[in-house]
Amino acid sequence: MGETWVLMKTAQTPTNIAVIKYWGKRDESLILPVNDSISVTLDPAHLCTTTTVAVSPAFQQDRMWLNGKEISLSGGRFQSCLREIRRRASEVEDKEKGVKIEKKDWEKLHVHIASYNNFPTAAGLASSAAGFACLVFALAKLMNVKEDESQLSAIARQGSGSACRSLFGGFVKWIMGKEEDGSDSVAVQLVDEKHWDDLFIVIAVVSSRQKETSSTSGMRESVETSLLLQHRAKEVVPKRILKMEEAIKNHSFESFAQLTCADSNQFHAVCLDTCPPIFYMNDTSHRIISYVEKWNRSEGSPQVAYTFDAGPNAVLIARNRKAAAQLLQRLLFYFPPKSDIDLDSYVIGDKSILQDAGLEGLKDVEALSPPPEIKENAAAQKYPGEVSYFICTRPGRGPVLLTNENLALLNPETGLPK
Ligand code: DP6
Repeated sequence: MGETWVLMKTAQTPTNIAVIKYWGKRDESLILPVNDSISVTLDPAHLCTTTTVAVSPAFQQDRMWLNGKEISLSGGRFQSCLREIRRRASEVEDKEKGVKIEKKDWEKLHVHIASYNNFPTAAGLASSAAGFACLVFALAKLMNVKEDESQLSAIARQGSGSACRSLFGGFVKWIMGKEEDGSDSVAVQLVDEKHWDDLFIVIAVVSSRQKETSSTSGMRESVETSLLLQHRAKEVVPKRILKMEEAIKNHSFESFAQLTCADSNQFHAVCLDTCPPIFYMNDTSHRIISYVEKWNRSEGSPQVAYTFDAGPNAVLIARNRKAAAQLLQRLLFYFPPKSDIDLDSYVIGDKSILQDAGLEGLKDVEALSPPPEIKENAAAQKYPGEVSYFICTRPGRGPVLLTNENLALLNPETGLPK
């Protein structure tokens, strides 16, 4: 082996949002959940992590950079993922570079990892799910790991539970499993992203000054103190999972919306049932729920489902483009941007929906009339500044390798961030 070579792989992995939530572990170190969960993968064009991994005999230690800043890899979760991937590594040969790595060499070789989120990490949008899924997927490609995506999901799971569902596109189920070693606690794809491509997703990134309890510690406290969590895991979720699978298979939006909203609300009820109680949603989140409930009721059938994770952001899943355009009109009526923000930076992602909604600029937003479901004389109060911005997106595909070297985050000669 020459001593100057660097081998690299770059991957892009989506984030996901649970419609039946994972909340609670039965094993903290292996990250084994107390119930199954189901998620929808979000289009990586709008929300994803890109990760480049490199190996070289010149590297002195494993190192990682997140959004350009070096971070420590000493945490147990990173170490579990690295150990499990290395254990499964096989021989790699790059004839062009004259490099041959034997299976046993992987134990001694160090890796460099650079990761970048195309959305603000601080926005509370499940960056760890996409991040760990991408780390595991990219390392598996670099080290010629032969396992399939489900088997890789069991490794990503040990980085962050929800990460295991980011190994696939479309709708994904994380099967809780029974084995003590976690080998059957894996993600499987229910349907791919084309199966239900009417759906349109609008995320309201809600302004918040409060530092939230992390999912990890929040769910630990719920497991220790909430009786509702026990009831939910044993009695409620197993039935909901079956119904949700049916709803997805049959494109039954009515059932899908009912289950999604009920499960989000129950997850937050478990948080309130935790001692001391955990508040993830705020007044803005509650307002969004009321508006959606009122509108759905007035239409006679649901147009939009809402779901909230461990934070105040609303993920709103509309039955189709038309409903999404009407949703955006309502959201922008209630939550217009503050005067110094233009529409182009207030609504990001798939902006094409703005045209469908007849909203080309701030003048159109100001001219929006109150939604018809509001009673004539009721005050249609507006809340500028409560939402930081909206992201418009759709269900999306699973991880992919990027072959264009220009997209790599590490320098191919030095293996250091570009
Ligand atoms: C509310 O996967 O972030 O988003 O496994 O401790 O890393 P750890 O927790 P994490 O929890 C996600 C919780 C949730 C619901 C969900 O994604 O299913």
